[in-house]
Amino acid sequence: MLGAEDHSSDNQFLKDVIEGLSQKQKSLSPKYFYDATGSALFDKICTLDEYYPTRTEVGLLSDKAGEIAELVDGQHLIEFGSGSSVKIRILLNAAKGLASYVPVDISREHLFGAAESIAEDYPNLDVIPVCADFTRSFDLPDVVDQGAKAGFFPGSTIGNFSKTEAHDFLAMAAGMLGDGGGLVIGVDLKKDPKMLQAAYNDQRGVTAEFNLNLLARINRELGGTFDLDNFIHDARYVEDKGRVEMHLVSLKEQVISINGTPFAFQKDESIHTENSHKYDIDEFHDIGRETGFEPDRTWTDKNNLFSVHYLKVAA
Ligand code: AVJ
Repeated sequence: MLGAEDHSSDNQFLKDVIEGLSQKQKSLSPKYFYDATGSALFDKICTLDEYYPTRTEVGLLSDKAGEIAELVDGQHLIEFGSGSSVKIRILLNAAKGLASYVPVDISREHLFGAAESIAEDYPNLDVIPVCADFTRSFDLPDVVDQGAKAGFFPGSTIGNFSKTEAHDFLAMAAGMLGDGGGLVIGVDLKKDPKMLQAAYNDQRGVTAEFNLNLLARINRELGGTFDLDNFIHDARYVEDKGRVEMHLVSLKEQVISINGTPFAFQKDESIHTENSHKYDIDEFHDIGRETGFEPDRTWTDKNNLFSVHYLKVAA
């Protein structure tokens, strides 16, 4: 069974990689960064001086935990893309009367491991894990579906989505959370491009390693022949699009192959690996209003680096 699942997910990875590298602007989805090595590298990124988002958001959630808990307490709390369920603990420590905690993640291993450890540490909490791709609509267990619901979507993961995908996700979330519901969401803010530049080009080269690991993963899992010395990490803030783009740039003309399929690169040709959209508060509020929410509360740090919002489902 497990073997069959691994096989089908490998095929999806292979399909997506072949499709992405066949486009005029080659691209790979950032969701494939997070194998075991990539997840460990991302955890390391979160501790870097230059990478302000994680510590700023964790600080905000900790400072405002009481206020946030009041807004969501008594409801079922659904986390979209729960991963290792670290940030949720800040809210669980403050919200003592939740109807349940519903972590939703596509990675079965991550999901059930994390759910078990939450259940152990919060013995009075009902933990109801749901294995699903939260970017598509999915079914909730009946007991959750029929109760009042709040959502939790931290980390500015929404920044990885295109503007259209962000709209689609928020509209889906508003529909799912329903009357009386709300969404606690972390959103990285627009700021001095120099600071953004530094956050995605750290001195120690961890972000470069994280980006290049995608090629290493393709080599490991899909029989790719990428020579990692022939590509370099490139991250730049594209002001008119309001996003940091990460690319892997070919240092020379070369042909690589994946599972027998060849792909040719010109010198300086890139693979686009990630978008990380940054928002203004007003801009994000507008998107909330366009997707079935009413912006209710917004918290920011004193330097206006990061924002956490409580969007109420519009009546
Ligand atoms: C996890 C998507 C929020 O965009 O800042 C960190 C991922 N990429 N450094 C981000 C990431 C490069 C991160 N997100």
